[in-house]
Amino acid sequence: MTSRRLVLSRSAAVIGAASTGLLLPEIVRAQSSKVRVGFMLPYTGTFAQLGVAIENGFRMAINEQGGKLGGREIEYFKVDDESEPSKGIENATKLVQRDKVDVLVGTVHSGVQMGIQKVARDSGVLSLIPNAGVHAATRGLCAPNVFRTSFSNSQPTRALGKAMYDRGAKTAVWITWKYAAGDESFEGFKEGYLAAGGKIIKELGLPFPNVEFQALLTEIAALKPDAVACFFAGGGAAKFIRDYAAAGLKGKIPLYGSGFLTEGVLDAAGPAADGIVTTMHYSDSLPTQRNGQFRLNYAKAFKQQPDVYAVQGYDTGLLLIQGANAVKGDLNNKPALYKAMEGAVIDSPRGKWTMSKSHNPVQDIYLRVVENKENKVIGVAAKALADSGAGCKMA
Ligand code: PHB
Repeated sequence: MTSRRLVLSRSAAVIGAASTGLLLPEIVRAQSSKVRVGFMLPYTGTFAQLGVAIENGFRMAINEQGGKLGGREIEYFKVDDESEPSKGIENATKLVQRDKVDVLVGTVHSGVQMGIQKVARDSGVLSLIPNAGVHAATRGLCAPNVFRTSFSNSQPTRALGKAMYDRGAKTAVWITWKYAAGDESFEGFKEGYLAAGGKIIKELGLPFPNVEFQALLTEIAALKPDAVACFFAGGGAAKFIRDYAAAGLKGKIPLYGSGFLTEGVLDAAGPAADGIVTTMHYSDSLPTQRNGQFRLNYAKAFKQQPDVYAVQGYDTGLLLIQGANAVKGDLNNKPALYKAMEGAVIDSPRGKWTMSKSHNPVQDIYLRVVENKENKVIGVAAKALADSGAGCKMA
């Protein structure tokens, strides 16, 4: 009896307080608290500049909204994931459990992404992938709370093989770092190139992030393929391009790649990069007002030229903004948040794109060539290309 009366009198007090407005500050504070955004990106190692470009792009999108998300201020948290897969789960857990982020933005490296994917699936935290293309994230291990704004690993290379064959390359050697991104890029390349009639003479590989290319370049010279196709990115890509030229292969055996090969590295690679043909969901020279304005604003804000990673970071911001606006900042309203993100049309510098059912971009893939330190568009290699989403139960 006593305890029941106590409860009743307590709730009466609460009602009284609420009606006089005494509880209001408490409620207001809960709703207007800052959105906690965690960046889990590489800030050291061969992908360091990719992480920086993604963060820059994301912040730029948010800053264009006055620095707010659905009307709420933002607090940022950062973890350097070092592109180190063995620390993936631990680093993602830091952001989710210690920093209690509402949104985890990460990462670049496919192996590290697998750690984030596990933490995202276990915790339910909203996970936005601004680069890593690992198939599982939007195929067999897809999840309602995981959205990718970049590409799946086989997407950029799917259209590369036909373009190569059409340009006269009947035989090719493939070379890459041996891990998910390289292997899955190869899957896309192989499918397109074989279907076009090409012959793959040899697959070469080295462990990530090894850059001792010399022995493999010597082997390529001996194999004499019509062309070489590859997946490399970041600092390692710049070195591969320089080493390819230094080995005397440039001008003799045309070099092709998934477009990451020539993203963010054109200053570092210098003239050795001229003439490299790649396929990618972005090109510096896309002649749209949207791209022109983006490039101008980015260069002004960060004193460097944007690349595909900056675009992906920017689009991650755009996607989150669309979701947050739809729920007026209440990111806990997950069904409405996810519905808005699933239906979003992203007006990107790369061109408009939409989300597939398994939460991966449906997007155009461009054919580009490097000219005067620019990835110049020379054609559309694939229109509105979607990943299969094979094995994704949501799709
Ligand atoms: C990846 O590991 O998924 C990856 C890394 C760098 C890129 C593209 C993909 O440029």
